[in-house]
Amino acid sequence: MNRVVVGISGASGVPYAADLLETLRRIEGVETHLVLTQGAKRVIAEELGASPKQLTALADVVHDDRDVGAPIASGSFPTRGMVVIPCSATTLAKVAHGLADNLLTRAAYVHLKERRPLILVPREAPLPLPSLRAMVQAAEAGAVILPASPGFYHKPQTIPDLLGFITQRVLDLLGLEYPRSPRWKEA
Ligand SMILES: Cc1cc2nc3c(=O)[nH]c(=O)nc-3n(C[C@H](O)[C@H](O)[C@H](O)COP(=O)(O)O)c2cc1C
Repeated sequence: MNRVVVGISGASGVPYAADLLETLRRIEGVETHLVLTQGAKRVIAEELGASPKQLTALADVVHDDRDVGAPIASGSFPTRGMVVIPCSATTLAKVAHGLADNLLTRAAYVHLKERRPLILVPREAPLPLPSLRAMVQAAEAGAVILPASPGFYHKPQTIPDLLGFITQRVLDLLGLEYPRSPRWKEA
C-alpha cells in the first residue's frame, strides 16, 4: 500500500517534482507511479534543459498519459495517494470538474472517488477567479491544495532547501515519515 502516484502537469515548478521523486526513492517500501502530461514535457525541456528521461529515471513505474487503461486509472489498484506537482491551471480545472481526459486527470478522479489523498500543488501567480473557484471545488471534493509557496522560517540557504519544504509537506500529508526539511523550531 505504499504506492504513490506522482502526476506532473505543464506548470512551472518541475524541480519540485524532481525533489519529491528523489526523496520518495530514498524511502524504503515506496513504489512511485509517474505520469507526465504533454504540457509537462514542454516545461521540463524549458526548466531542466533536459529530456523527461532524467525525471522518469527517478520513478519506479512510468505511465503514458494517453494510456487510460493503465493500473492507476482504476480504483481497484491500491495506492497511498496521489500528488500533482506542479499542477497547472488547466489540470486543476479539469480535476475540479471531474474531467478525466488523460491518465493524470483520470488517476486524480479515481483518488477523489476512492476518497484517497489527492494533493494538488499549483504554482500560478497571481490567481484569476476561475482558478480560485477551481481550488475551492477541488477542495470540496476532497483534494488538498498545497500551493508551491515554501516558508522561510527554516532559513533556506539553497534552492533544494526551498524545494524540500514543499516535499516535506507532501510526505506529511501522505503519512510518510522522512526527514526532508527542518520543522518549526527545528531549524
Ligand atoms: C515554460 C512554460 C511554463 C508554464 N507555466 C505554467 C504555470 O506555471 N502554470 C500554468 O497553469 N500553466 C503554465 N504553462 C501553460 C501550460 O503548460 C498549458 O496551459 C498546458 O496546456 C497545460 O496542460 P496540462 O495541464 O495538461 O499539462 C506553462 C507553459 C510553458 C511552456
